[in-house]
Amino acid sequence: MANDWWKNAVIYQIYPRSFRDSNGDGIGDLQGIISRLDYLQTLGVDAIWLSPVYESPNVDYGYDVSDHRAISKDYGTMTDMEELIFEANRYGIKVILDIVYNHTSDQHRWFLEARRSKKSRYRDYYHWRPGTSDGPPTDWVSAYNTSAWELDEQTGEYYLHMNSRRQIDLNWENPDVIREVEDMMTYWVRKGVSGFRIDQLGHINKKKSLPSYEEFANKHADPHFKIIKDEGAHPYIRQLNEAIFSKYGMMTVGESTSSTPEEALLYTDPDRKEVNMIFSSEHLQAKEKEKKQTDASDVIKLKKVMEKWQKTLENKGWNTLFWCNHDEPRIVSRYGNDREYRAESAKMLAATLHMMKGTPYIYQGEELGMTNPVFDSIDEFRDSKSLTEFQQRYFEGNEEKSKILEGLNETTRDNARTPMQWSDAENGGFTDGTPWIKLNGNYSHVNAEQAVMDPDSVFWFYQKLIQIRKTHPIVTEGTFDLLEREHPSLFVYTRRFENKLLLVISQFGEGEAIFDLRQQNLSIKSGELLLANYPADQTLPEESIRLRPYETRIYLCGQ
Ligand code: GLC
Ligand code: CA
Repeated sequence: MANDWWKNAVIYQIYPRSFRDSNGDGIGDLQGIISRLDYLQTLGVDAIWLSPVYESPNVDYGYDVSDHRAISKDYGTMTDMEELIFEANRYGIKVILDIVYNHTSDQHRWFLEARRSKKSRYRDYYHWRPGTSDGPPTDWVSAYNTSAWELDEQTGEYYLHMNSRRQIDLNWENPDVIREVEDMMTYWVRKGVSGFRIDQLGHINKKKSLPSYEEFANKHADPHFKIIKDEGAHPYIRQLNEAIFSKYGMMTVGESTSSTPEEALLYTDPDRKEVNMIFSSEHLQAKEKEKKQTDASDVIKLKKVMEKWQKTLENKGWNTLFWCNHDEPRIVSRYGNDREYRAESAKMLAATLHMMKGTPYIYQGEELGMTNPVFDSIDEFRDSKSLTEFQQRYFEGNEEKSKILEGLNETTRDNARTPMQWSDAENGGFTDGTPWIKLNGNYSHVNAEQAVMDPDSVFWFYQKLIQIRKTHPIVTEGTFDLLEREHPSLFVYTRRFENKLLLVISQFGEGEAIFDLRQQNLSIKSGELLLANYPADQTLPEESIRLRPYETRIYLCGQ
């Protein structure tokens, strides 16, 4: 099944702006990526997913696209893009593009045309509504915690934006919009890309009834996404599948952060012909972002969420496996210990995730165990969402500056967006100029050059996890079972396939924990150690294992 290459693949996400700057303007670019393909090949990944490099006014750094067929000058030219696709393929690395079509930038030609007149042929590409006596058409709240409707003075109607005021939601009920998406995707298929990551796929279709936000706010922790999410998106996705994904053998992953596993099944069941997999962040919500210390209830919740996703998509559909992306704080700072046990916890988290069933995604710098930086003042932030939050809380909420900063340090998307740490040279070897966003000060000892030289580094641990996936079909195929469900810190599971059993034992804490094999009923014949982050028994002990802080072990056993 040549088209199913992604089932056994590991995908690396690049946030181009922060990956590698080749011309000293302080902004990462396409030539910078080309210059590091050998590094990615050493790591062993199969594909790279590029966050948007299209033309954009950068309100949301590329997630506000003004032209889907043009490369932003910040990143290079179309020739650079063609060269990247060609060179990557030469290294055996496929290229996945980020497609942002839930909305466009307000600078997109369509929107400029649409707002000119109610009669424009582009008017119906977007959602327009007359106001009410209270102002906006509904009480919908955007991801920026403002009204999701903006009044357009010229035509006197409101337009919908579920993200920032300058990212205008497209109207997928208009067949012309889907036709445009198909044309644009075909354009990129012809350039040689291997797949698409589709931004906010779960939200492309808006509930026609425009239900009240209030109603949802009382029922859901995450009302913003719940008000818009609608079953109605599926027919549109099937249409794209038929016209593009199946036709050209494209790999597809849709973003749908608030989906349940049952909903994920609807998107990913191959019989339904929609997408291969989706990103939901339920596992990252097991612990509140603002909370510093991970406690037993977080670990137990995390295990249950992971188990539910593994089990629901076990026989049909497919999982994504990820800890990090450009929207989320660094995982070592979130579920690990980014100081005394930085490397140990980074490896433990990696092993726990990568031995599950699904396609793992590594976000740039995760393979180095990169951590959240410390932002000392509001001037150091670049993320428009964080800047808006600061404005609202400081000027409108009258909150104390230090308190807002403390919160933002935990939650800001900039945690993931500080430049990739290549070496201990100035600016971490990211740029010869002034970086567009500050670096994390720990690049002096957390960097790729150091990691590649040290056989015991987080980098080589990730490389080995990828190799294990490539050598043992059990990692791709095996069924998943969680053990020690109620244990406060141990995360233990098995995978079974043919006559083999894979046993993954992880300690999510700093104390000691004991895993007693005699209480498990596993009927294992013998086990051999595949990988661990401390010196450990080469064969599986028969009685119990005493785990050290953030220890992880992977045993391959006969059964
Ligand atoms: C997705 C992206 C995020 C962006 C948003 C709007 O959630 O991951 O970075 O801000 O969509 O495009
Ligand atoms: Ca540059």
